[in-house]
Amino acid sequence: MTEEITTLTEQAPPPVREWPAHDLAGTEFDPVLADLMREGPLTRIRLPHGEGWAWLATRYDDVKLITNDPRFSRTEVTRRQVTRLAPNFAPRPGSLAWADQPDHNRLRKPIAGAFTVGAMKRLRPRAHGILDELLDGVVRDGPPADLVERVLEPFPITVVSEVMGVPAGDREQVHAWTRQIISTSGGSEAADRAKNGMYGWITDTIRARAQSTDEDVYSLLGLAVGRGDISEEEAVGLAGPLQIGGEAVTHNCGQMLFLMLTRPELRERMQEPGARGPVLDELLRHIPHRASVGLARIALEDVVLRGHRISAGEPVYVSYLAANRDPEVFPDPDRIDPDRDPNPHVAFGNGVHYCTGAVLARLQIELLVDTVLERLPGLRLAVPADQVVWRRKTMIRGPQTLPVSW
Ligand code: HEM
Repeated sequence: MTEEITTLTEQAPPPVREWPAHDLAGTEFDPVLADLMREGPLTRIRLPHGEGWAWLATRYDDVKLITNDPRFSRTEVTRRQVTRLAPNFAPRPGSLAWADQPDHNRLRKPIAGAFTVGAMKRLRPRAHGILDELLDGVVRDGPPADLVERVLEPFPITVVSEVMGVPAGDREQVHAWTRQIISTSGGSEAADRAKNGMYGWITDTIRARAQSTDEDVYSLLGLAVGRGDISEEEAVGLAGPLQIGGEAVTHNCGQMLFLMLTRPELRERMQEPGARGPVLDELLRHIPHRASVGLARIALEDVVLRGHRISAGEPVYVSYLAANRDPEVFPDPDRIDPDRDPNPHVAFGNGVHYCTGAVLARLQIELLVDTVLERLPGLRLAVPADQVVWRRKTMIRGPQTLPVSW
């Protein structure tokens, strides 16, 4: 199809497809998403919560276009009950995820310095030390061990606290709140209590750092509030998702290690000089990081895309998981191919809302994979692969536990 035809010929809107919440095991690609990708570049979906339907874009080029185009707004979504996966919807002021430009820049500016490549280089030795301590414990206690409980969960939580500037004396409490907020079993009342506790603590901490000259995130936010660049409410809304953002690393890396433990050729490949980066990138592309789709956008004006008119006011989702399997960009997309070159995956998103923690996440993933494989030679699953238990009723997919021996 030529560009001219796609923009000039308008087609009837596709049928609205139900996309129920499924618990998927292992690293299986969601079969509903696979069907939607086959059905068309643009389809329409209804998710378990919220109202009405939304457009879904699955092709790489469309996903990149929509996520880079200010005609699609995040802020508008906060005024609506768009069809969605999550049962509850309580966007906070200050949250980067819901901000459009120029607000997004204003909010991101105070904290950007804490997540740069340079800042992460400085963090690396400390992060390595945290990981070594965790693995010392695992080695001391001997096999078997649950890698999720012993390493994959505590490591990102502790590293994030380091970046945020959580004082040693408050860490136990902050980490307990984090676990309750992200846990799938705690029930929503416990999660709400933990959120209240955490957000109260964040407010006090930011207030107490109004004059701080340190470079941790809470100090940077305290200063920005003092200067009047952002409000206190915005600072708190900015900090919350960052403080619990480590969860993504736990589960993504859980999927990564599961794949490495079940596909020996990947581990062998990792040993080759220069291969680690490409292998990890290919796994980032391949891993079905999340369930369903993330946050919607709303068209602010009519946009004709692939022959369909997306009218002003209509919600649109993009699927980064689908874009990462677009055969036009990634030949033989379901195959894990460490030789894939180039590999321009969008595992961390694209455009304004590109993941704030991407460099931090990469640092942690590299350290985790390297250190776990190095310190636990002969690492293997302690149960058959099909008995690994996977997280249920969750936004971010990954193993619930990863029992290993070595
Ligand atoms: C946004 C992926 C780790 C903080 C995102 C987005 C993706 C993503 C796909 C959404 C882009 C969009 O809305 O269009 C991942 C993956 C991770 C990871 C795969 C780990 C493997 C982290 C970490 C942090 C973090 C460690 C912070 C400590 C955020 C924030 C946003 C975000 C604050 C919202 C950014 C915005 O809307 O401007 N991430 N992430 N992420 N991520 Fe991550």
